[in-house]
Formats: sequence, structure tokens, C-alpha cells
Amino acid sequence: MKVVETRKLKKTYHFGDTEVTALDEVSLDIEEREFIAVWGPSGSGKSTLCNLIGLLDAPSEGEVIINGHSAEGLSDAKRSELRNTSIGFVFQNFNLIPVLTALENVMLPLQINGVSKELAREKAESLLDEVELKDRKGHRPQKLSGGQQQRVAIARALVTDPLLVLADEPTANLDTYNANLIIDLMRRINQDKGAAFLFSTHDDRLLDRVDRRVHLQDGVIVSDERSPVEVGSPT
Ligand SMILES: Nc1ncnc2c1ncn2[C@@H]1O[C@H](COP(=O)(O)OP(=O)(O)OP(=O)(O)O)[C@@H](O)[C@H]1O
Ligand SMILES: [Mg+2]
Repeated sequence: MKVVETRKLKKTYHFGDTEVTALDEVSLDIEEREFIAVWGPSGSGKSTLCNLIGLLDAPSEGEVIINGHSAEGLSDAKRSELRNTSIGFVFQNFNLIPVLTALENVMLPLQINGVSKELAREKAESLLDEVELKDRKGHRPQKLSGGQQQRVAIARALVTDPLLVLADEPTANLDTYNANLIIDLMRRINQDKGAAFLFSTHDDRLLDRVDRRVHLQDGVIVSDERSPVEVGSPT
């Protein structure tokens, strides 16, 4: 089952007479449970790709299909519903709501989807437990370190049981130690819960931690490599 299919995605931006092609005919399939890094230099189109797959922005040409449902031609409400039920987001700047506690931040996506407060709280507490922050649930983001804030953001991204978590440079504002912790955590959750992950990075030290590396340059996929499948011992 494919979680995401993109068909010849193109995104162009216009400024007066100049045109910038941020993505050019990008076709990418993401299978269930994949753990993928999209890497490439600044300006190569990583954020543009994340925003298009996440239905946060519309392509100039091409199509995004999430879990078999094309996003093309959907009303805003239907597109939001597809996004809110299928995809979790993690951002470079954590993007937690400063006036809400860690627990309230994690509960929010469920409440937006109409889940009762009691159920949302229960689910959010279990996810905060999973990211080892249960004892910080009453803290507001400003009282948490960067690494802790990103762990809250990961709990928030997972609370709706998404098929896919999209993380645009989740480690860019973290030191190496915390960056590794976040990748380990995403990896563990990927294996335990089965959510697919796609994260962007320009840190090639993280590339040996993933199953699949999609290399973008000037808006084009120049390589898409999977780690060799581990073969069990011969019987
Ligand atoms: N809103 C926008 N308006 C105009 N041009 C844009 C916009 N967003 C991105 N671009 C351009 O599209 C290209 C791809 O940008 P994008 O942000 O996707 O790159 P990136 O790989 O995420 O870079 P970085 O590593 O710096 O985050 C760049 O040339 C950028 O200037
Ligand atoms: Mg970017």
C-alpha cells in the first residue's frame, strides 16, 4: 500500500518577469513504514516538496495522492480533512503554541478532529510518556529545552495515528547530541507504530540512519537510494 504518490510535481514561483522552478517533475512513491531522508543543499526544493506532500501548498502542475486519495480538485475542507487524518508534521522551529502546556499542545490535533477532551488527554499523556516527557506535561514550551520541545512536537505529530510524519529539517536547530536523539526517537516510533517518516536535512551525517535517501538538486531528484535489504541467515 502506498502512503503517498506524487506525479510529476512542479512548483514555480514568479517575481515580475523572472520565474523560479522550485520543483520540476518530481515523482515519488512512499510505501507504508518507510523511513526516508530528503537531502540536498539550501534552495534545492526540500521544503517545497514537504509542503506539497503535506497538502500545505498546491503544485503548479502534477498531483499528490495520499493513501489512494488524490488531493487534486478537493475543497479546502476535504483537503484539510485528508491532511488532518493522514499526516503529522514536525517543524524546524518546533512550532508549539507558547500559551499551551506540553500536554495541551499534544491534545490539540485530536480536539481539532473532534475527539473528546477526555480521550484526547489520555492519548496525549501516553504519547508524552512515549517521548519520555510525562513529567513535563504541565510545562509551557519556553520552559523546555530545544530537544524537549521537538519531542513534544513529535508526540503532537503522532497523536492522530498518521500514516506519514513529515519533518522539514527537524534537527536543524539542535546540537548533534539532540539531533541524534530525535532521529533515534523517530526511528523507534517508525518501527513500533509503523508510521512512515519523511524528513528533510542537509546534514549528511544523518543519512546512514535511514532506509532510503532521496537527493534533490535544483528541484530535481538526482538519486533515490535504498539501503540493501538485510537478508536473514540462510536456512
Ligand atoms: N514562497 C516562495 N516564493 C518564492 N520563491 C520561493 C518560495 N519558497 C521557495 N522559493 C524558492 O524555491 C526554491 C526551493 O526552495 P526551498 O525552500 O524548497 O528549498 P530548501 O531545499 O528547503 O532550502 P533550505 O535548505 O534553505 O531550507 C528556492 O530557489 C527558493 O528561493
Ligand atoms: Mg527548507
